[in-house]
Amino acid sequence: MSSGSTRHRVAVIGGDGIGPEVCAEALKVVAAAGVDLDTTHFDLGAARYLRDGAVLPDETLAELRGFDAILLGAIGPPVGDTTVPPGTLERGLLLRLRFDLDLFVNLRPFAGIPGSVAAGADFVVIRENTEGTYAGEGGFLRKGTPHEVATQGSVNTRHGVERCARFAFDLASRRQAHHLTLVHKTNVLTFAGDLWHRTVSEVSAEYPDIDWDYNHVDAACIYLVEDPQRYDVIVTDNLFGDILTDLAGAVSGGIGFAASANLNPARTGPSLFEPVHGAAHDIAGKGIANPLAAIHSAALMLEHLGESDAARRIVKAVAEQTDDMSNPDIPTSNEQLSTTAVGDAIAERL
Ligand code: NAD
Ligand code: IPM
Ligand code: MN
Repeated sequence: MSSGSTRHRVAVIGGDGIGPEVCAEALKVVAAAGVDLDTTHFDLGAARYLRDGAVLPDETLAELRGFDAILLGAIGPPVGDTTVPPGTLERGLLLRLRFDLDLFVNLRPFAGIPGSVAAGADFVVIRENTEGTYAGEGGFLRKGTPHEVATQGSVNTRHGVERCARFAFDLASRRQAHHLTLVHKTNVLTFAGDLWHRTVSEVSAEYPDIDWDYNHVDAACIYLVEDPQRYDVIVTDNLFGDILTDLAGAVSGGIGFAASANLNPARTGPSLFEPVHGAAHDIAGKGIANPLAAIHSAALMLEHLGESDAARRIVKAVAEQTDDMSNPDIPTSNEQLSTTAVGDAIAERL
């Protein structure tokens, strides 16, 4: 039963590698939490591309706009694969969804699991999701010649940075620590960094109760490993956010735990929920992928859809399961649980 009068319509893109495996567990857990979603599965990803060349047809994108939310597993070919040119799916499918649906916030929460480097840490990275080096500015000159030139610019707009900064301050003001850190590279990226620093500084005037500071991105990598407990809300640009969140996942217990929400806060269309990790072809089909990132991402989706009670219960079950899996006093803690066994265990706890 859903809390609203109509069932939430969710588009599911399982995608490639472990994507479909972890998505199935996320949907199993949502059902166990008592939310009856109206799901439609979309055949997109490497297999579809190799079959008929389609990446994200215009009519499919138009159809996706009509859903309440999108749940995505992962897309992308094995690293080094040349049958799908690099970026075809990443840019043509995932980034196109982020850009065209105006999912300008990529929210990635981290809670260090017991025994991890970041044990006890609890922070959220707000990654700008539509600009920076991801915008696709650049090109080649004299490609393939000894005088070849390749440029890849970084696009930073006042509007784009400001709305992201404001979202991050709003989030910080709802959290206990009331702290925000801007991460950038103002000492070298003196144009983009200047815009980011000025904008965050100006927006901060609207939030006098939030303590904010600034870290260079290289130093932030040190602090994430040596003292991650210092962070509460981190706000950063698209590429730094991509890199920092894989690192944050690794120090928090593993990338298999890291969830994300690609949000259109104005709700002019569906938001997209997906694990931080990729298609992990090295472990695909073995039944050993950790589904907790996808399950937690589905909880973020339910929260966004107004199913707060179910979302809270799933997040709690994930935390308890994680604690048990990392507790040396529990005999099964060091055994590798299968993907489906972890999904079943969460469903059982609900
Ligand atoms: P990856 O995240 O797929 O894998 C990196 C490492 O993490 C691998 O060793 C993998 O086994 C491990 N790992 C990832 N998820 C795991 C899980 N749930 N449980 C246990 N271990 C897990 O990154 P990659 O290898 O650089 O990329 C593979 C493909 O995925 C590429 O095509 C890339 O473009 C794509 N990708 C897609 C997304 C996405 O769809 N959102 C994100 C990242 C990468
Ligand atoms: C992520 C992924 C994507 C990114 C890729 C697949 C386009 O790495 O969601 O972190 O770089 O944003
Ligand atoms: Mn990434």
